[in-house]
Amino acid sequence: MERVSAPAPAASGQASGPLLAVADLTLRFGGVTALDGVGFTVAPGELLAVIGPNGAGKTSVFNCLNGVYRPQRGTIELGGQSLIGRAPAAIAGLGVARTFQNLGLFPQLSLVDNLMLGRHHLMRTGFLAGMAWWGRAKREEIEHRAAVEDVIELLELEPYRRTPAGLLPYGVAKRAELGRALAMEPRLLLLDEPVAGMNVEETEDMARYLVQARRELGLAMILVEHDMRLVMDLADRVVALDFGVVIAAGTPDEVRDDPRVVEAYLGCGA
Ligand SMILES: Nc1ncnc2c1ncn2[C@@H]1O[C@H](COP(=O)(O)OP(=O)(O)OP(=O)(O)O)[C@@H](O)[C@H]1O
Ligand SMILES: [Mg+2]
Repeated sequence: MERVSAPAPAASGQASGPLLAVADLTLRFGGVTALDGVGFTVAPGELLAVIGPNGAGKTSVFNCLNGVYRPQRGTIELGGQSLIGRAPAAIAGLGVARTFQNLGLFPQLSLVDNLMLGRHHLMRTGFLAGMAWWGRAKREEIEHRAAVEDVIELLELEPYRRTPAGLLPYGVAKRAELGRALAMEPRLLLLDEPVAGMNVEETEDMARYLVQARRELGLAMILVEHDMRLVMDLADRVVALDFGVVIAAGTPDEVRDDPRVVEAYLGCGA
């Protein structure tokens, strides 16, 4: 009997084509058109920045990608699989993790427990099954703790392991939020303003951790950020939105110098 030893074609669709393909995304709230025919792609391992003035639609793109909002029109495919109509938990299970513009940690829980929650969708053994299969649940718990400790080490969060998230200094809390998302072992990480409200030093630290996470974990990222220096330093490509429309796309230099982008930022007084 012939044994097939060649790897199966990647179910994720990563072998060819983009990891994420978004086309014609259109989202309305009553009379407000938050997104109007937005399209872009993200290659495996790529870092795409999405920029634009306040209210341009950046967070709305994320809310469509992770299933919080259902767009009226358009397609979103991750590794060839459609994400439209799937619940946020299902999309997380397919490998899309997210950090929030406002912190998404549970304040009373320790940093370790917040990161363990990030892995919840990866756990096979539920509570009742865990009682019946104590050994397996225990092994699983040990594996998950080890994975969480890897993230803690990567982000140098060791001193805060037992600290309730609500008591973490702001810059550290933003890093812990990144840790919670990385603990999910995503293929695609959505970062919504990861350095908002940070001072220069904290911003440089965060940039370093993002570079390290990319290098060690090889995941793709979409970065929404107002800090243009961070965007210029980290992004492979940039998409600029204004009033829910893509006004420019290209390399960081191309987009920064695009007259429509300059005008959009001057127009909003940023
Ligand atoms: N749940 C909602 N209900 C009604 N309108 C909404 C909702 N969410 C977003 N909008 C509107 O959609 C538009 C885009 O908002 P969005 O939050 O995506 O902008 P943004 O680019 O993330 O802005 P910021 O830089 O301020 O975070 C805005 O006009 C906003 O008021
Ligand atoms: Mg936003």
